[in-house]
Amino acid sequence: MKAKHTFALAVSAVLMCSSPVSGADAAKAKEAKTCLIAGWENPASVCVSHTKVITATCFICHGPNGKSGSAIPSLAGQEKTYFVTAMKDFRDGKREATVMKKYALGYTDEEYEAMGEFFTKVK
Ligand code: HEC
Repeated sequence: MKAKHTFALAVSAVLMCSSPVSGADAAKAKEAKTCLIAGWENPASVCVSHTKVITATCFICHGPNGKSGSAIPSLAGQEKTYFVTAMKDFRDGKREATVMKKYALGYTDEEYEAMGEFFTKVK
């Protein structure tokens, strides 16, 4: 009985020493850009692949990487502010659209920004 008790004390001492996050680690974690996906906060690496997945849903009409070969406008190289404004206008019904209201509705402002960032960098 006595030995068990000593072991438990030792374990809690180890846990107490290892659990607190140092100030430097906390600051580092705050620096990395996180994003909300369906209400969950995600690390920067997940945000990057999330943007790849959502922009890929646009390629079917706007062409691979947003380089259109049809009458549908190209998104590749588009100015970010123009892109974000267009998405908000489609969503809010301020800009006439055949299909884009539907495609603009599913995303957050943060996701518009991330998609705009992606498309503006395509050469
Ligand atoms: C089903 C085909 C289709 C899909 C999928 C689609 N779009 Fe579109 N997009 C269009 C059409 C058609 C237009 C012209 C406006 C309209 O009639 O809706 C357009 C216009 C736009 C414009 C305005 C371009 C400009 O030069 O003014 C933006 C920005 C845009 N789409 C972004 C997106 C994004 C981002 C996605 C993916 C989340 C997407 N679209 C998915 C068909 C599509």
